[in-house]
Amino acid sequence: MRNFWTQLPKPFFVMAPMADVTDAAFRRLFARYGKPDVTWTEFVSADGLCHPVGRKVLVTDLLYTESERPIVAQVFTAHPERMREAAALIAELGFDGLDINMGCPDKSIMKQGAGAKLMQDPTLAQALIAAAKEGVAGQIPVSVKTRIGFNTNELETWLPALLDAQPAAITVHARTKKEMSLVPAQWEHVTRAVELARGSGVFILGNGDVKSMAEARARVEETGCDGVMIGRGLFGNPWFFTESFPESVAQRLQVMCEHTEMYEELFLGKKSFALMKKHYQAYVHGFDGAKELRTALMECEDATAVRNCTEAFLKRLSS
Ligand SMILES: Cc1cc2nc3c(=O)[nH]c(=O)nc-3n(C[C@H](O)[C@H](O)[C@H](O)COP(=O)(O)O)c2cc1C
Repeated sequence: MRNFWTQLPKPFFVMAPMADVTDAAFRRLFARYGKPDVTWTEFVSADGLCHPVGRKVLVTDLLYTESERPIVAQVFTAHPERMREAAALIAELGFDGLDINMGCPDKSIMKQGAGAKLMQDPTLAQALIAAAKEGVAGQIPVSVKTRIGFNTNELETWLPALLDAQPAAITVHARTKKEMSLVPAQWEHVTRAVELARGSGVFILGNGDVKSMAEARARVEETGCDGVMIGRGLFGNPWFFTESFPESVAQRLQVMCEHTEMYEELFLGKKSFALMKKHYQAYVHGFDGAKELRTALMECEDATAVRNCTEAFLKRLSS
């Protein structure tokens, strides 16, 4: 098997899967300015991938370039047979790994019995891991991303159930489903996950609230985990993994325009431009006139308007 996990120097610092955020444009930007050790796609419905019409639409979410490797595709489903079929497709598309979502608290996902709901059905969770392994047929590693429990901390039973199914890696988001993202992540549970996984050969990644590489390294020290996954800390900061945030506002805004242009080039007519606008809050803050520029950007409807608006702002700034 091409198991990239065992080839990576430890600890690894990876990009979290984030729906409508870690799309192909976002991932390419990171590959250019500050590559994570592992890149994740947004989650994609395995059920959708098994349907000819759904597949056509969802393949947009699975676009990637060589620069993003190693890249892991994340899927969700509650049906082992669809997992098997989707996993075979993910391997065929050339991904380096397949990750199963077992932590999403979104009602529409849980209603299908998928995401966080799987924490209430460890037998099905194990069957999904087994089906994914069958689907990839030994070509790529299968991993899991989950939380510490559904309503309460259930790590003592939930993690061993996952470990029994022998995924290559498990990412533990250090909160319960009930806690959503409303309370601080409790990293002591990652320490416990590392203890429970000792000797199993399964890598443990911790996740939750990490805002800098210094903090990520401190979490590794503190918990002994093999890697750290970062989500919201990456917004508007494609330099995160290099720790070299640009001093100049102009440089930051140029990259925002580049991000927008890449988004338009890839997704024109396929994804709403409103999704791109979600990133502007993160790029445009902490300098004089930021609020005014953000308001102006919210009125823009394409990449040309965003560039014109930004250039006009920078001109005023330097005059
Ligand atoms: C906008 C958004 C979308 C997300 N989408 C996914 C997803 O598709 N799959 C997944 O496993 N987790 C998803 N998450 C959860 C993140 O991967 C991560 O576990 C969570 O944000 C906690 O990490 P952080 O504090 O570093 O952001 C999403 C989070 C956010 C904020």
